[in-house]
Amino acid sequence: MVGVSEQLTVIVLAAGGGTRMKSKTPKVLHRIGGRSMIGHVLSAVGSLEPGRVVAVVGHQRELVAPHVSELRPEAVLAVQDEQLGTGHAVRIALEALDAPPREGTVLIAYGDTPLLEGATLRSFTEAHVAAGAAVSILSGIVAKPHGYGRIVRDGTGAVEAIVEEKDASDEQRAITEINSGILAFDAAFLTECIARIGNDNANGEYYLTDAVAIARADGRPVTAHAVADALQTEGANDRAQLAELGRELNRRIVTRWMREGVTVMDPATTWIDADVVLAPDVTILPGTQLLGATVVAEDAVVGPDTTLEDCEIGAGARVVRTHGQLAVIGADATVGPFAYLRPGTQLGAAGKIGTFVETKNAQIGDGAKVPHLSYVGDAEIGEGTNIGAGTIFANYDGVAKHRTTVGRHAKTGSNNTFVAPVVIGDGAGTAGGTVVRRDVPPGALAVSSSPQRNLPGWVQSRRAGTAQAEAAEAAARAAGEPGGA
Ligand code: UD1
Ligand code: CA
Repeated sequence: MVGVSEQLTVIVLAAGGGTRMKSKTPKVLHRIGGRSMIGHVLSAVGSLEPGRVVAVVGHQRELVAPHVSELRPEAVLAVQDEQLGTGHAVRIALEALDAPPREGTVLIAYGDTPLLEGATLRSFTEAHVAAGAAVSILSGIVAKPHGYGRIVRDGTGAVEAIVEEKDASDEQRAITEINSGILAFDAAFLTECIARIGNDNANGEYYLTDAVAIARADGRPVTAHAVADALQTEGANDRAQLAELGRELNRRIVTRWMREGVTVMDPATTWIDADVVLAPDVTILPGTQLLGATVVAEDAVVGPDTTLEDCEIGAGARVVRTHGQLAVIGADATVGPFAYLRPGTQLGAAGKIGTFVETKNAQIGDGAKVPHLSYVGDAEIGEGTNIGAGTIFANYDGVAKHRTTVGRHAKTGSNNTFVAPVVIGDGAGTAGGTVVRRDVPPGALAVSSSPQRNLPGWVQSRRAGTAQAEAAEAAARAAGEPGGA
């Protein structure tokens, strides 16, 4: 609807305590799906592109306010020191604006409803504007209305008032149509009526919901629109509810990606954060968590049992039983099983980070391979290079970290240690067991282990009477050698 956005002010109420969370973290900062609860609400609100957003903060505002500012720098913060009710909170929000809104719509939302979607707010706001109502209620029909404000209708079916649980008669308590908490106001009406809301009720609170009866007394229209998907306005008050909403949010996200062409073998054990982006024909195997800003390109296969946070996985790559954070994996590369990708890992196209390999701040070129049992930290490995099994990039001298550079198409032996800072040239090699302390020129073979010495009969003389010595004696006898007694 033309004009709704610029003329829209959204007030998000988030001053309440949330004691049932039993947490040092404020309720609205508890996270599901990779965002705080208020983060989900601000994202839904943001999709409406409102002219102004006001967040009402109070309880633990030293934590809530900076979080809101980080997510929506343009949001106005209104401080409510004492939580005297939703009507009081909205009054403080209006006072925080340079000028109270006189035109358009003011939408009220709560900061603890993480499943709320922008589309729901949009259609509700449009219905409110189309009806020309002074107040519109996003209502819901619920089996257990306890605790909610009830929508009281008159004989003609018109909305008369919202009555809060504590103030309701037995007859009113039986009403199953409830106030979800989300309300839309004609801005001029709200600005004028907010001062008329008193606190003469069972809670001694300023109820925003009293605006409904005030509108009716003024002969102004009030409408209620039932939300089809009641979970969208459900708040999480304790951690059990938070987990329930978290599972439902995940179910919705996973379903959405499957509809977009992603294969998810086991939706129940697959967790995908709200900001993850997946291409069609990605396959996700059981026990996989894709977190943060992770992006997975076409035809990649991730899992089973893999956690990737803020990672980028290239097209056709294969990532098996891996834990990764801030890593970039090239197209057609393979990772795992049992790899640990730490921040700054970059693997080129068709490269390999194999089994029991840990990488950190390491740029590994196209087609380069670190297949087995290695630690690669603060390193650059050129294209086509193969790192032998059991290689340690010794990047830390106990004081500072240093870099190792390995050139293109090098082949390093098993059980090497590269003592950084050190450079191994293009096409160079190292023998098994080499400790590389000095640079290796291109094309050279580095050998650092001393020649092997065998001390014949050492075991028989020094370990006489042991199974080891007996085995040695038996072998010597069989070979007809002296020493087989
Ligand atoms: C409110 C509604 C009720 C509705 C229910 C839906 C009123 C009077 N009642 O009741 O009709 O069915 O929500 O969940 O509005 N808040 C502030 N400052 C305050 C008071 C509240 O910021 O002074 C915030 C809270 O942090 C919360 C929201 O407003 O996010 C709702 O407050 P809450 O106390 O939970 O209201 P209810 O009693 O549940
Ligand atoms: Ca509540």
